[in-house]
Amino acid sequence: MKFKERKITVNYHQVSYFDEGQRQALPVVFIHGFPFSKAMWSNQLEALKKDYRPIAYDVRGHGQSDSGQVDFSIDLFADDLLALLDELNIPKAVVCGLSMGGYIVLNAIQKQPSRFAGLVLTDTQCGADTSEGRDKRMKTIAFIKKNGLEVYADESLKNLFAEQSFQMHMEEVEFIHQTILATPTEVVCRTLQALADRKETCSYLPKINIPVCIMVGEEDRITPLPMAEKMAAGIREAHVVVVKGAGHLSSLEGSDQFNRILINFLEANNS
Ligand code: MLT
Repeated sequence: MKFKERKITVNYHQVSYFDEGQRQALPVVFIHGFPFSKAMWSNQLEALKKDYRPIAYDVRGHGQSDSGQVDFSIDLFADDLLALLDELNIPKAVVCGLSMGGYIVLNAIQKQPSRFAGLVLTDTQCGADTSEGRDKRMKTIAFIKKNGLEVYADESLKNLFAEQSFQMHMEEVEFIHQTILATPTEVVCRTLQALADRKETCSYLPKINIPVCIMVGEEDRITPLPMAEKMAAGIREAHVVVVKGAGHLSSLEGSDQFNRILINFLEANNS
């Protein structure tokens, strides 16, 4: 592993995290999507560690973090994020969430807005699941319980990546494939339920009064550009940037572009 793995007890479970860069510098916390892990942010940690304090952690049950004893919910994951900031003595951070990570940060900011210096919302949305979306998740849970994760992982990859990434980013595709397969089946099912049950956050967006950068992969089929534009329209200080040639995992598929946009945002808003 490129980065030192650290563990900390937060909200009655053990969280695994990376904490790189300069201790006194601005903390930038990364939250992965579903069902991935902190390891998806390696390129960003590498790019930021000289001038910032980039932190990436495994959401409850994912990667090397424990599941704990309670039912999963996006609300619980948001409490975990705030408790992690407390435990790390971080009063304020820029937080970057991809997809489910975005759902978590948009929930957490409603609870404690003063903890956030800026948001980077990546390939995510503010809406709740539609009833069809919810039904699909329930069918997926039943399918996984019966058949395991292999077919689910193969089908997921087709939606997650842009067409061209299957030739140009084979290593990233295989990395995500292995990450999905390494996630316990029970964690995948419990998180699918949490995603299905999540509440919308669109109505909160006008209350956000910190800088927000919204990134979306040009070929994101899961949370496409109109969803990003809808969020931007609701937020006072937000702009949308399209990551060319990327699908739903723009930080991996277009990491150079992604890092440039991220660093520009950090430099513009935190000097
Ligand atoms: C993710 O990448 O976190 C998922 O696509 C989120 C979702 O399924 O809503």
